[in-house]
Amino acid sequence: MNESYNDQKRKWDEDVEKTIQRFPERKESFTTSSGIPVKRLYEPDHGDVKYINEIGFPGTYPYTRGIQPTMYRSRHWTMRQYAGFGSAKETNERFKYLLQQGQTGLSVAFDLPTQIGYDSDDPMAEGEVGKVGVAIDTLEDMEQLFDQIPLDQVSTSMTINAPASILLAMYIAVGEKQGVAKEKLTGTIQNDILKEYIARGTYIFPPESSMRIITDIFSYCQENLPKFNTISISGYHIREAGATAVQEVAFTIANGMAYVDAAIEAGLEVDQFAPRLAFFFNAHNQFFEEAAKYRAARRMWAKIMKEKYKAENPKSWKMRFHTQTGGSTLTAQQPDNNIVRVTVQALAAILGGTQSLHTNSRDEALALPTEDSARIALRTQQILAHESGVSETVDPLAGSYYVESLTDEIEQQANEYLDKINDLGGAVKAVEAGFMQREIHQTAYDTQKDIEKKEEIIVGVNEFTIDEEVEPELLRVDEELENNQIASTRQARETRDQERVSAVLRELKQAAVTNEKLMPIIVKAVKEYATVGEIANVLREEFGEYTAM
Ligand code: 3HC
Repeated sequence: MNESYNDQKRKWDEDVEKTIQRFPERKESFTTSSGIPVKRLYEPDHGDVKYINEIGFPGTYPYTRGIQPTMYRSRHWTMRQYAGFGSAKETNERFKYLLQQGQTGLSVAFDLPTQIGYDSDDPMAEGEVGKVGVAIDTLEDMEQLFDQIPLDQVSTSMTINAPASILLAMYIAVGEKQGVAKEKLTGTIQNDILKEYIARGTYIFPPESSMRIITDIFSYCQENLPKFNTISISGYHIREAGATAVQEVAFTIANGMAYVDAAIEAGLEVDQFAPRLAFFFNAHNQFFEEAAKYRAARRMWAKIMKEKYKAENPKSWKMRFHTQTGGSTLTAQQPDNNIVRVTVQALAAILGGTQSLHTNSRDEALALPTEDSARIALRTQQILAHESGVSETVDPLAGSYYVESLTDEIEQQANEYLDKINDLGGAVKAVEAGFMQREIHQTAYDTQKDIEKKEEIIVGVNEFTIDEEVEPELLRVDEELENNQIASTRQARETRDQERVSAVLRELKQAAVTNEKLMPIIVKAVKEYATVGEIANVLREEFGEYTAM
């Protein structure tokens, strides 16, 4: 990028003018509490070469300072709290509560049976129905989940991977029942199977079949859901499994490249699908390293998409990401301390330019959050957005000797990892060889040793402890839920047209065997009230089940 400083500055000024047509800045003028005007952007008095080539302007390649020219001055990040437990009805109530409390996006947590493609009455589901997320078996449950929530007015993230096609199909069907055309639906499906093999574990099928389903979804969304993000390439769980910030960036980007390769291999055009790729990162405790991590990742992805994949559409170069504060940093001891941890972590994500943010609740090391805890977590974001002043100028950490040095160093070390993974034949081969898993396990082991030796202090855990921990009031999922969910699922099976269900499942089986597109048939299947388990089992029979290293 050799544009002169003046050229870049002129382009940025033009971008700003264009942007504020659609997203006017939130206030006429921005000032500190002492009345000091806050400029839209701070930069060196003259355009030094490093600034121009590696830092540049927000909304301008390589986007180190953020993907939008005015960032939060025009629109705050989406406050998107991950939520879901028990039945669709209970979760629907929590969604409505959070929306009423001011959150600006939805994020669905599904229970493990749903995430691994089992119905609530499958023996494999016993004891897990509605426990870590909402139980979804049929379209009836999905309709209940979004009851009185207009899908043309909210964007919804769904944390679903192996069965992503099925839940996306149900979301489309609910939209149609609400009179919302597919083209109007906004949101994201996580749909990132590689990190499931590496760290999270909710996979079903072998890598090759999984990649086929993922690119099948890319292709379907390209034609039918132009505003829907087709994948959320996740570093969150890789970090939760014990990775360092550098490993989180490197392994996530390596996975991203594997999805781009698979989509191109499937005949898709990079500038057609890449603008709807999204990312998902963690926010851990080391404030400056975390803020620098996002800036490094954004710059890396921009360069990879423009230079390696020759993408020409700037929307293909922009890394848009969601952040969740680090679940594994929450302590069961002195849970109120977690409010402070989450605040520091959220601040790092904001100063790192996140597009969407989930803040963990203080009690999540103990149970799913109570309503009170979930509200405090949301208020944390609202206080940072409206009281702290950190969203009043773009990328305020830029130019900090420490932050820019960390950004460079993280980029450098992450690129070294990318070279190693590319030497192994790319992320899919590296995952099959267990490379990333071994790197993460080693880091996790070293970290645990540091904590036990008190070289890493965890307040309230290995230092500053108290004798009498008082357990706070916790959310309890009604044990009766499992039986109720099973009964409603059996009822749904009895009232549907079984002939039509069998016919569409036969059609899906046929498509799975050939190279036919799966999504259109899965959409038909869910509309006939075929269940998550029935559809997943058809694919299991054809693709087999996989056990990762
Ligand atoms: N200037 C100009 N335009 C702007 C703007 C600005 N300042 N701010 C926003 N916009 C525009 C955007 O361009 C976009 O328009 P477009 O779609 O036409 O481009 C629109 O406003 C909405 O903005 P974003 O797309 O930035 O924000 P969203 O919130 O809609 O999307 C995302 C963010 C990261 C792209 C998306 O993928 C997303 O929402 N991801 C969320 C993923 C998530 O919640 N995951 C949770 C997983 S939980 C989990 O896995 C952990 C568990 O396992 C424990």
